[in-house]
Amino acid sequence: MRWRSGKELREMFLSYFERNGHRRFPSFSLVPDDPTLLFTIAGMVPFKPYFLGKREPPFKRATTSQKCVRTNDIENVGRTARHHTLFEMLGNFSFGDYFKSGAAAFAWEFLTVEAGLDPDRLYPTIYKDDEEAFSIWNGEIGVPKDRIYRMGEEDNFWSVGPVGPCGPCSELIYDQGPSFSCGRPDCGVGCECDRYLEVWNLVFMQYNRLEDGTLEPLPKQNIDTGMGLERLSSVVQQVEGDFQTDLFKPLIDKSCEICGTRYGDGPSSDRAARVIADHFRATAFMIADGVLPSNEGRGYVLRRILRRAVRFGRLFGVDRPFLMDLYPVLIDVMGDPYGELIEQRPLIGQVVELEEDRFGKTLEMGLHLLESEIGSLAPGKEDTLPGSVAFELYDTFGFPYELTEEVCQEKGVSVDREGFEEEMEKQRERARAGAKAASQGIGKSLFDEIREEQGATAFCGYTSERANTTITAVIVDGARVASAPEGSEALLVLGETPFYGEGGGQVGDRGNISGESFQADVTDTIKNSGDLVAHKVVVTRGEAAVGLSVVAEVDGPRRRAIRAHHTATHLLHEALTRVLGRHVTQAGSLVNEEMLRFDFTHMKPLSAEEIDEVEVMVNRQVLLNTPLEVILTDMESAKRLGAKALFNEKYGSEVRVVRVPGFSAELCGGTHVDATGDIGSFKIIREEGIGSGVRRITALAGLSAFLHHQRLSGQVEALERLFSVPAEELEKRAGEVIRENRRLSGQLEKQKSRQALSRVEELLRGREEAGGVSVVTGVLEGSGPEALREVGDRVRQRLSPVVVVLAVGEGDRGHLVAMADKKAVALGVDCGILVRRIAASLGGGGGGRADMAQAGFRDVAGLPMALEGVRGLVLDMTGEGV
Ligand code: ALA
Repeated sequence: MRWRSGKELREMFLSYFERNGHRRFPSFSLVPDDPTLLFTIAGMVPFKPYFLGKREPPFKRATTSQKCVRTNDIENVGRTARHHTLFEMLGNFSFGDYFKSGAAAFAWEFLTVEAGLDPDRLYPTIYKDDEEAFSIWNGEIGVPKDRIYRMGEEDNFWSVGPVGPCGPCSELIYDQGPSFSCGRPDCGVGCECDRYLEVWNLVFMQYNRLEDGTLEPLPKQNIDTGMGLERLSSVVQQVEGDFQTDLFKPLIDKSCEICGTRYGDGPSSDRAARVIADHFRATAFMIADGVLPSNEGRGYVLRRILRRAVRFGRLFGVDRPFLMDLYPVLIDVMGDPYGELIEQRPLIGQVVELEEDRFGKTLEMGLHLLESEIGSLAPGKEDTLPGSVAFELYDTFGFPYELTEEVCQEKGVSVDREGFEEEMEKQRERARAGAKAASQGIGKSLFDEIREEQGATAFCGYTSERANTTITAVIVDGARVASAPEGSEALLVLGETPFYGEGGGQVGDRGNISGESFQADVTDTIKNSGDLVAHKVVVTRGEAAVGLSVVAEVDGPRRRAIRAHHTATHLLHEALTRVLGRHVTQAGSLVNEEMLRFDFTHMKPLSAEEIDEVEVMVNRQVLLNTPLEVILTDMESAKRLGAKALFNEKYGSEVRVVRVPGFSAELCGGTHVDATGDIGSFKIIREEGIGSGVRRITALAGLSAFLHHQRLSGQVEALERLFSVPAEELEKRAGEVIRENRRLSGQLEKQKSRQALSRVEELLRGREEAGGVSVVTGVLEGSGPEALREVGDRVRQRLSPVVVVLAVGEGDRGHLVAMADKKAVALGVDCGILVRRIAASLGGGGGGRADMAQAGFRDVAGLPMALEGVRGLVLDMTGEGV
């Protein structure tokens, strides 16, 4: 057997099947167009509708090398030589074309002739009583009877999930030789060790498993096969495990270099190298396909993988962001054919570094907390970490639950998962509280039922705002009824509709449905079960009954405003890509009649210049008044047109490309203007960050943009009148007014001080004596606290020993200052106590030092009386009081 690189093997496989009549596709996205799956877990996933017979395949045979993510036993990744989170699956598929015999012949020929595997070392397995498969391997291929193994459901029946396409399978097992054996006496085909390796799985897809478990025969008999490229490479390259193949070795070496270890040094450092190499690879691929770290769904899986890699780096003292050091190596190995890794370099870098940095900051603290919690469990008795601790680690320190579990496992402690889930549920409840129930309590199955009965609702709303049609279903309070009376709220399904059901960020249409002696207002339109359109209505006249002929008419002006905002969103998306860079990827959007909101990946706030540039670019396109083009085509031609697509692209089927020729193209099902001029004008009104690496722009188009300008210019005009200058001088004038105001306030303060100071002599004349201390009190109208202190100082310079109490009051707010000189303090005077006592009698409070204190109070009318009491208080303090 000749040594071949992983890349050669991939190419060899694809071109072999291409030569044999298979249509070759590049790997599909990791994010499947399938709500039942988080990730593409096998090569067959993108072809599921063909297997199920839901869609007619335009080709009968296909082949791919599909990137796949499986995370069900992530804690084994690193422990073994063969577990991965991301791997490549080589596959050939037949949609009702060749079946078992063809699949077996292809597989046998490829492995023995193309790849050069020794046929005497290959063992086919078959599903227990699949005699057809048995006779094919034995009779057609020529494998001796005793080398064909029968296996049970567990090994030789494959399904994509609890429901969906499935079937019995045949596996090809390769004997790597005794040196790979575990050495157990019963080591043989079926043993889990490395000697007998399952190389290729050939699934005879012939059933659809339903919810209740029954196997329903599929319309056609299909073939789905899967062979791990990493595994095939390890066999052909005759190395121990996938991590030693040329697909992984460079990543392993780099991981070791980062950790300062050598591969083969010991189990724990080898494990770290494998985890880091594997997880970084998966991380980069996921981000390149548009997954961003978050606390749910795919984003959570990504976060978990990325953080697990970071923690393994920490175990070897790597406490800086390090994952991107692996990036150049990954590009070397995988950049061809996976160009998305290169294209999305900025996004991958930014997301990885941000996430590493964030997690790095709390990792130490979290681990510390976790270790002390583990330490505080009573040894031998308690060996379960409370769920609340796992939750705190998750909530405060960003520890994915599985990470906590893994650290605990290493210390022989388990985690109270139920307790953790309870805390999570409580948090979800908190989040849900207040969120409105949108679905009106209608189970999905009711819509499914109608959809199955009536098919998809024909949508004529791209070209028309009006349709003559009939009511085909009425739903009231979650149940199907024959009719809904006047005054009731209902959901109506029509034979055909011009109403756009909410989707792709665009809100649902409003309008009305009317017939002879019947009228209903449509308040919203929603899409269910894929493409069944339901109109949310209030019946205002007559009765909405199944079978009634009606005219359905969309609120035209509102629809036109929505169209303007939707096309503006496309222009904005393209402009952002041009101004900020190709890493800009749509992360969400909302389009309604008043505004648009667009969320996208970008790591820092936009500068004022960038915002200006984007606005100008969009408005230039508006002014060009370019007619839009809508093209229905297949995915490949759409890509050739440069159409932007969300990451969960649909392949194989017809897609709709909305194009502004010369500027933008995007896959989109929404309603758009006829020509860009219909947008009128475009204005960004807000730019903000909404999460890690995601920014949000809010903008206006059409009449909304105009009204915004109108409002602003109205405000400017009002200012012009106030300042009596034209708009262009407003800024200068306002600056002048502010400066003038500051100058005048300063002057006034000084004036007040002067005025207050002029009263010093008068105050001195009014002094009293208390136990040998001069007591000066007075009210200084119109002075601020500063002036009070200044006057107090002057008095203090003129007399000794002296206590001076000055106050000011207006309305129900007063302020007072007490000051004493050193001698008076020596005699027992304490201004702090003094002001507290005075203020207390006036409904206020304050304090300070013995030589200076201040207070505020409310009872201004009581001030003269309070000041009269000062002398008595001083007498008290100096011990002269009676
Ligand atoms: N879909 C089959 C598997 O994943 C080939 O094993």
